[in-house]
Amino acid sequence: MTTPVAADARVVALVPAAGRGVRLGAPIPKALVPVCGAPLLVHAVRGLLAAGCVDQVVVAAPPDMVDVVVDALREFGPTVRVVPGGEERSDSVRLALDEAVSTHPDTRVVLVHDAARCFTPPEVIRAVVEAVRAGAPAVIPVLPVADTVKEVDSAGHVVATPDRSRLRVVQTPQGFDIDLLRRAHDQQDAPVTDDAGLVERLGEPVATVAGHPHALKITTPFDLVIAEALFSGAQL
Ligand code: CTP
Ligand code: MG
Repeated sequence: MTTPVAADARVVALVPAAGRGVRLGAPIPKALVPVCGAPLLVHAVRGLLAAGCVDQVVVAAPPDMVDVVVDALREFGPTVRVVPGGEERSDSVRLALDEAVSTHPDTRVVLVHDAARCFTPPEVIRAVVEAVRAGAPAVIPVLPVADTVKEVDSAGHVVATPDRSRLRVVQTPQGFDIDLLRRAHDQQDAPVTDDAGLVERLGEPVATVAGHPHALKITTPFDLVIAEALFSGAQL
């Protein structure tokens, strides 16, 4: 748990970008939707590389659009590889992980970062990598919850009010010791949207670092408007 990873250990970022973006409702897959002058995915990859601590990026693309995605990412050269993604997000992560392991077996630290969180500040990416390097086998960026949260039953009746001070919303990149992420995915039996959840099921500890509001996930047209408003004047 506390064995530090060598400072020069290879860091690979897996970017699941194979979703259709049903809730966004655009005519093209969400990762290719333009925001602030470039596709979401281009901003996401640029942000990962700008953090200065990621050696390789593996993108899981919509299987029928691998060529389009390769074209969109050409500017980054061989540092960025593209594989066809899968049916569910967890399948896409698994396929990208297999690619990372087969092309760079010496990789020790792996990040999993949603293409949809395309404006994640570099300091969040660095904080996650540093925490894994310092010996935490699984690390997630989190934010406190602003609203009161209720648990309801299938009829919509409230069954519980969790103590808000103990709740966090979870962002990406999530960082892992690569062997642990492989073990977590090997025992996965149902699709999940959160890799750290798989690690929890193994009984392994998951550490947290501070997330950032700018790491918001673009899910709906509303989120796209927010992102344009926040970042259209920024140096991206
Ligand atoms: N993702 C993926 N492969 C899938 C499904 C999702 O790689 N089969 C990726 C998405 O491209 C996205 C990230 O996982 O970057 C988070 O998923 P989400 O925000 O839910 O994106 P979509 O699944 O595309 O959106 P929706 O659920 O609205 O269809
Ligand atoms: Mg989805």
